[in-house]
Amino acid sequence: MNDFDLVIRGGTIATASDVFQADVGVRGERIVALGTSIGSGGREIDARGKLVLPGGVDSHCHIEQLSSMGVMCADDFYTATVSAAFGGTTTVMPFCAQHRGDAIPAVLDDYHERARTKAVIDYAFHLIVANPDEATLTRDLPQAIEQGIRSFKIFTTYEKMRLTDEQILDIMAVARKHQALVMVHAENHGVISWLGSRMVEQGNVAPRYHAICHTRGSESEAIQRVAMLAEVLDVPVLIVHVSTVDGIQAIREARARGVKIFGETCPQYLFLTAKDIDRPGMEGAMFCCSPPPRDEAAQEACWRGLEDGALSVYSSDHAPYRHDESGKLPKGDKTTFKEMANGVPGLELRLPLLFTFGYGAGRMTLPEFVDLTATRHAQIYGCYPQKGTLAVGADADIAIWDPDRRITINPDLMHDNVGYTPYSGRKLKGWPTTVISRGEVIVENGTLSAQRGRGRFIARAPSDATVPSGRKIPEMAQLDIWGTPLEL
Ligand code: URP
Ligand code: ZN
Ligand code: ZN
Repeated sequence: MNDFDLVIRGGTIATASDVFQADVGVRGERIVALGTSIGSGGREIDARGKLVLPGGVDSHCHIEQLSSMGVMCADDFYTATVSAAFGGTTTVMPFCAQHRGDAIPAVLDDYHERARTKAVIDYAFHLIVANPDEATLTRDLPQAIEQGIRSFKIFTTYEKMRLTDEQILDIMAVARKHQALVMVHAENHGVISWLGSRMVEQGNVAPRYHAICHTRGSESEAIQRVAMLAEVLDVPVLIVHVSTVDGIQAIREARARGVKIFGETCPQYLFLTAKDIDRPGMEGAMFCCSPPPRDEAAQEACWRGLEDGALSVYSSDHAPYRHDESGKLPKGDKTTFKEMANGVPGLELRLPLLFTFGYGAGRMTLPEFVDLTATRHAQIYGCYPQKGTLAVGADADIAIWDPDRRITINPDLMHDNVGYTPYSGRKLKGWPTTVISRGEVIVENGTLSAQRGRGRFIARAPSDATVPSGRKIPEMAQLDIWGTPLEL
């Protein structure tokens, strides 16, 4: 009789706070022991010379979702979660999207059904709110929160998604009352649409004009406005996909005056620039996302933001569209930048890119890598310590990394359904070779062994973002983000 179902033996373990040598004992779906020379396992994995890390938690990705322009993502819950698993991620948090006219209960049923039958790793949901009418505010959002969907994404731009300041306040008030986190896509709509119309009138329709219309100032202005609205209600808010020097500074300034504001950045803002969008012909379309990648100074600001805690999480914003008529190029070579589906893939490469160019390049420690890719996501979104760490009692979601494995990125290596990767040709050192989800080895030696639909929905608790962690964010660590309840 073995002591454990699975033992991972002799590896170097890293959490958001420590690096140590230990064996990991798993019974059923959970970690039940961490220590040296623990008993025997029904299965034993030799992890000597390897790193044993928590599986990644990707708190921003779009899966099987209809965009505001009515385009379906190229990845469904199967291809997206398989791709995530191969890249060392074991929990995803995609969106259920309410479009104008949609009733939230039907939207939630729909996404639950799609994910339940296809996901191979665990998932939680955020809810996109585009129609904050009376029923949504008074009945449907509180009900969704009750069901463990404790974060809403709202938009200040996109013609069919954007909300007025009053609507944003309405949603923030509900979030405040029921302890949900408001995530905001913050860009100034007027600037983007005014410039966009002028560009098209003048015949400037190539992908590069997408980057020109989404000005840097439109991001920082919207972040400042959203921070000011959050301040009115004393509600925590998270700005997604932050891309600019001034946007990050706006977060720092708001936080310095007590606003409970978090920031997120993504691989495209660390590893791409607007020069990629300016590639010849329609090639640039592969790099178009909103906000767009900027310049080297902005990349550097994003690294610094991750370092000093202005940016708390590093997510993929995986928004998968093929470089053909189904996604990026509905009118082939005649497609204007305003007609292209927006977004880039990133679920699979999010961790390996940061491992090589963050940890491997000496920009961060291993605990910081773990914090930014897993722990902090679970804390902010209320599923820690079930997810995002290696600890007794936590789900056995584990990625075993070969720190010396060398890979040159090429689209054929990817497991998503996108057909290209914006990071083609980059050389990586370090790759997750064995991935375990709730105690089950689902990826090993390049082979998937997960049943379709084995992934489970994770109902989340209120954000636990004040938990002190490995990174230095003293202002945030001291804030009780839920504060004193307001009567609204
Ligand atoms: O370009 C992007 N990021 N597309 C996905 C939708 C969104 O705004 O996150
Ligand atoms: Zn967005
Ligand atoms: Zn997104």
